[in-house]
Amino acid sequence: MFFHFKEYIKHLTNSCNKHGVHSPFVYDFITKCLYKKASKEDVSFFEKYRFNLKTSSKVVCIEEYGAGSRVFKSNIRKVSQIVEVAGIKRKYGLLLMRMMSYFEVKTCLEIGTSLGLATLCLQAKEPKMLLTTLEGCKNTLEVAKEQFDRFGLKNIKVVLGDFKVTLPKAVKNNNYDVVYFDGNHTKTATLGYFKECLKAKHNNSIFIFDDIHWSQGMCEAWDEIKKHPEVTVTIDIFQWGIVFFRKEQRKEHFTIRL
Ligand SMILES: C[S@@+](CC[C@H](N)C(=O)[O-])C[C@H]1O[C@@H](n2cnc3c(N)ncnc32)[C@H](O)[C@@H]1O
Repeated sequence: MFFHFKEYIKHLTNSCNKHGVHSPFVYDFITKCLYKKASKEDVSFFEKYRFNLKTSSKVVCIEEYGAGSRVFKSNIRKVSQIVEVAGIKRKYGLLLMRMMSYFEVKTCLEIGTSLGLATLCLQAKEPKMLLTTLEGCKNTLEVAKEQFDRFGLKNIKVVLGDFKVTLPKAVKNNNYDVVYFDGNHTKTATLGYFKECLKAKHNNSIFIFDDIHWSQGMCEAWDEIKKHPEVTVTIDIFQWGIVFFRKEQRKEHFTIRL
């Protein structure tokens, strides 16, 4: 926790807003998407989905994967608590929605479904988008699938299993406009998933990494990703690291205060 706080203070010191940005592509993205106000319709859609989970009396037995939880001590958890702890926060959920429509995303991969809150945000604005989401815990995924049905979310391909097995299959012979990395926040796993997903990127693909300042290991993973020769523009908004591969851009890093 203290590490995270220290990182946040560093971020506040090092970050700038749109005025420090000269690249037109990045400037437009910041002003027309990152800083754009969320619509009431998006807020209400997000809140309805979350409300359903927050007021659920269901309890699920979790199969623990990844870096584990700093909050939960037991594997028997209330759905209402899982959504609070592991689900995407409103500010970032709404930003995901804006990004999907700003970039007119047609194909997307989510690594880490949990209860499907971010899945909803990825698909809400682009209902025809082909979205694949990967999750290891069967019981959590069951709740997510019930939610997708209730909210009429179609075109979501849900894949159950360890990322070690499911990710190589998901990238094989596939191309994604967006990959959202939100599972197993360890350095080794994150770099492994990043390298695997490079096989499915194209010039305009965008990779979004959640929790890049969660731990020393995640900060190191983010530093390596930024340096990767195929990566051009990177944007650190503290909660996420956003990665672009556009060859027409020069390699440049931005730290932006949201
Ligand atoms: C932070 S949660 C995802 C939250 C979700 N994207 C959201 O915002 O609502 C991460 C999920 O990844 C899953 N996960 C972590 N490591 C995994 C692995 N190695 N294989 C399969 N699933 C994994 C966990 O079970 C957990 O549900």
